[in-house]
Order: sequence, then C-alpha cells, then structure tokens
Amino acid sequence: MGSGLVLDLPLSGQFNWIVCHSVEHMKTNIASKIPDNQSHLLSFWDELSGEQQERLAAQIEQVDFDLIARLHSSDEKAEDWNDLAARAKTPSAIRLSGAGNKYSPDEATAAGEKALREGKVGVIVVAGGQGSRLGFPHPKGMYKIGPISDRTLFEIHADRMIAASQRYGATIPLYLMTSPATHEETVEYFAANSNCGLKDLQIFCQGTMPAVDAATGKLLLAEKDQLFLSPDGHGGTLAALENSGSLADMKSKGIEWLFYFQVDNPLVEIADPELIGYHILSGSEMTSQVIAKTDPAEKVGVVVSVDDVTRIIEYSDLPDEHAARTLDDGSLALWAGSIAVHVFDVAFLDAAKSQAAALPFHNASKKVPYIDDEGNRVEPAEPNATKFERFIFDLLPSAKNGLVVEVAESEGFAPLKNAPGAPKDTVESVKAAMVALHRGWAKAAGLNIADDAMIEINPRFAMDADELKSKLAGADSVESGKYFS
Ligand code: UTP
Repeated sequence: MGSGLVLDLPLSGQFNWIVCHSVEHMKTNIASKIPDNQSHLLSFWDELSGEQQERLAAQIEQVDFDLIARLHSSDEKAEDWNDLAARAKTPSAIRLSGAGNKYSPDEATAAGEKALREGKVGVIVVAGGQGSRLGFPHPKGMYKIGPISDRTLFEIHADRMIAASQRYGATIPLYLMTSPATHEETVEYFAANSNCGLKDLQIFCQGTMPAVDAATGKLLLAEKDQLFLSPDGHGGTLAALENSGSLADMKSKGIEWLFYFQVDNPLVEIADPELIGYHILSGSEMTSQVIAKTDPAEKVGVVVSVDDVTRIIEYSDLPDEHAARTLDDGSLALWAGSIAVHVFDVAFLDAAKSQAAALPFHNASKKVPYIDDEGNRVEPAEPNATKFERFIFDLLPSAKNGLVVEVAESEGFAPLKNAPGAPKDTVESVKAAMVALHRGWAKAAGLNIADDAMIEINPRFAMDADELKSKLAGADSVESGKYFS
C-alpha cells in the first residue's frame, strides 16, 4: 500500500463473539438473545455448518433488537416533516451575488490557503454506498468517468488531492470511508494502483444496520446463515471515524478542519480554500456548500432555518407545497440545495462523537431480496423492507455558527447516480458537465475553442481557469479531443 495506511476493521462492526465450546451451547446462547418475534432467524440453524453457525451468531450478537423494534414501530421520536417544513425559512447564506456577505471571496481564499499551507486541513470522502441506482457492480469510485481520460472517480479525486498538496506545499491526508459492500474491492483497487499516488491515505469501514420486513418488523435473511445488513448511512461516518482511529490520527497530525465530500461528484473542488476560509472566518463548526435550486422538484435536500437553527430537510421528507413556496420576488424560499459538501471543525466532530448514537435514524422503504421461512429466495417487485440510515447533515443543528455557502452548480456539482436513460445525474450528464466546466476555463483563459469541443483537464495540469491560463500562455486555440494531463 505504498506509504498509506489501511485501517482494516472487521467488516460488520466490532464483533465480540467468543467461540462457544459446543454447538448446542452456541444455539441456546444465541436463542436467548433473540426476542420471540425474531425466532425465524434460527430456522435453518441445524442445516448450517459450524462456520456458518458462528457467522450467523456473530451477526445476531451485534443487533440491538430493542432499537430495531423502536425504529420500526416509530416509537423513536419521528419528525413531523410537514410541520417542520411549514416553519422552515430561507437560511442566511454567503451568496454568489455577494449581497450581504460579511467576507469577500479574496479574504476567505486567503484564510483557507493559510490553513492549507499550515497543514491543518484533512479531507474525507464517503464511498460506502451501494450505488444501486447506477447498477455498477463495483464500488462507485471505480467507475471510469473521465470523458477522454477514462480515469475513475477515485483517480480524479486523488489527482485533485495531489494537485492541492503540491500547490500548498503540505500533504493533505485523505480519509476514505467504505462499507462492507465496498471495502475489500476498494482496498484492493488502491493497493493495485499505488494508492493513486496519494501520500497519506487511510481507508476505513463504516458499520451496518439490519433491514426489516416493512409489515412485520422481522429481520430479513440475505442467506440462511446471514442477516441482510446494509451500510448505516453517511451519518455512520462519525462513529466510524472514531472507531477506526482516524479522528485520533487527525488530532495527532494537527488537522483542525475536515473537508467532506461524496465519491460520486467529480466536479467537487476538494479542499476549496474559499469555502474553508468562510468557515474559519465565521467561527463556524460546520459549513455546508449549497447550490441554488431553480426547480422545486430537484432531488437535493434543502438547508433551511427553523426557529433560527440551521438544518437540512431531505428531499424525500419535503412536502411539495413547501418545496414550491416562493418569496415576494418569485424565487424559491427553500432554495439552498445541499450538495453534501461540508467543512467540519475536527474539535466539533471530536465532541460530537460521544453523541454519535444520538444522531437519528431515517427509515427508507426499499426492495430487499430475502430468504423466506421455507428457505426460498424472494426477489420482491415492490419495496418490501425498511432500511435504517443515519445522515451526517443531522449534525448541523448542533453546530455553533452553522454556515451555508453557495457555489454555482456548473462549478461544483454533477453527481453520478443513475443508469443511462434516466433524465438526470447519468454518466452522460456528468461527463457533459465536466467537459462544459473545462471548456469554460479554456474560454476564460482566452483560448479559441468551439462551443461543442470536447476537452478534459487533469487537476494536476490545472485546478482552475487561472492556472490553465498561466500553463497555456502563448497558445491561442484548443482542438476538440484534447486531454491536458
Ligand atoms: P447515496 O445515498 O446517493 O447512495 O449516497 P449511493 O450508494 O451513491 O446510490 P444508491 O442510492 O444506492 O443508488 C451518497 C453518498 O454517500 C455515500 C455514497 O457512497 C455516496 O458517496 N454513502 C451512502 C456512504 O458512504 N455510506 C452509506 O451508508 C450511504
């Protein structure tokens, strides 16, 4: 793994299973931990090999059955989203228009660059999702998205990390979160590719939650010897950062600010000094980058202010009438679309880690294949199950001076979510957004370039229009098909 370090956690959390001396003892022991309504989990016990029994028992040991029961029956305090959305107001934000902003972009950039030069900034990318909509049978980071280069999302992000480290003369550590679904392949991928050139890379695995049958609350079996477990949401980052030792690693390296992004967005300006600078100058503990929504139906969470507290309402929880609410000038009231790019104070995460368990779970209705009581595999045509996930943005209300900063969508957000043919966020639309951004840089650099020219710029060649201009001084045009690397 080069000089990088891989923190290799057990794939399903921290197992404390002590191997029992006899198989019978193991069955009795594990049966005593299962509530009556979940006894189906041992239906196939006698058919399993010793190894399979141990695996199933270890998984069952990890389940907090009381919590699952509460989550399923919604005894856990569920939000009244309609009421919350009705009270939600436009948040105060640093806008692209500059109107009302306390700090100028130059002031913010200077503050962010100082932090970067002093080696006080780390980066975290969350890459534990299963990418079910894209239908790519590998970790999404391995998807070859470079329009000309064919470089993968992982490579493009690593290129930008390396370019930023070089520009600021300080190694920026990358903390990469996987899940049991993506861990092994991700570790193998980076090992086989010399860590994509990264000098300080730590890969760690998030925890899991069982999925339950939506009607009965019974845990679903993925196999006769396995629960159906799925990643516990990007909110699992907090616990995983602590359990993996990554938080301690940051503190030991003097990292004060953590730049957070999602693996599926190749447009993200990783370690953006301006964003980091606004965060620092504002004394914010958590800053969220947003885009201005123009269409109420856009599928991004919205950052809002409720009773003067900044928080995010996920798009699926936002009733249409409130998504469409407008201000006097006709613009959307709840305009601030979250693109899941945040800056955190490491000290804030460190203090919040003890409350990791307090982050609420959100219930999601999903199609989950399972083994039924007769041992047959069932492939449901409709959502049959409830999955439980935590969201990282639920930290925002507890952050001091929570801040919202706008970025132009064309410069910061093109998520790869859907298989070809979908109306948005597909391979085609993401590649087109990358090409459009780079073509814009070439134009801004004064180069002659056709409106439909296809170009791609590796961040190690140029991270922005100004750098491109200085690199290409003397050139006057660019041909379509050019990859600057
Ligand atoms: P999404 O919720 O869009 O999920 O995750 P996804 O895996 O990309 O796609 P679908 O919904 O299965 O089609 C947004 C980001 O959060 C990460 C994903 O890797 C992605 O970068 N994520 C999501 C995690 O790291 N862990 C999770 O448990 C969930």
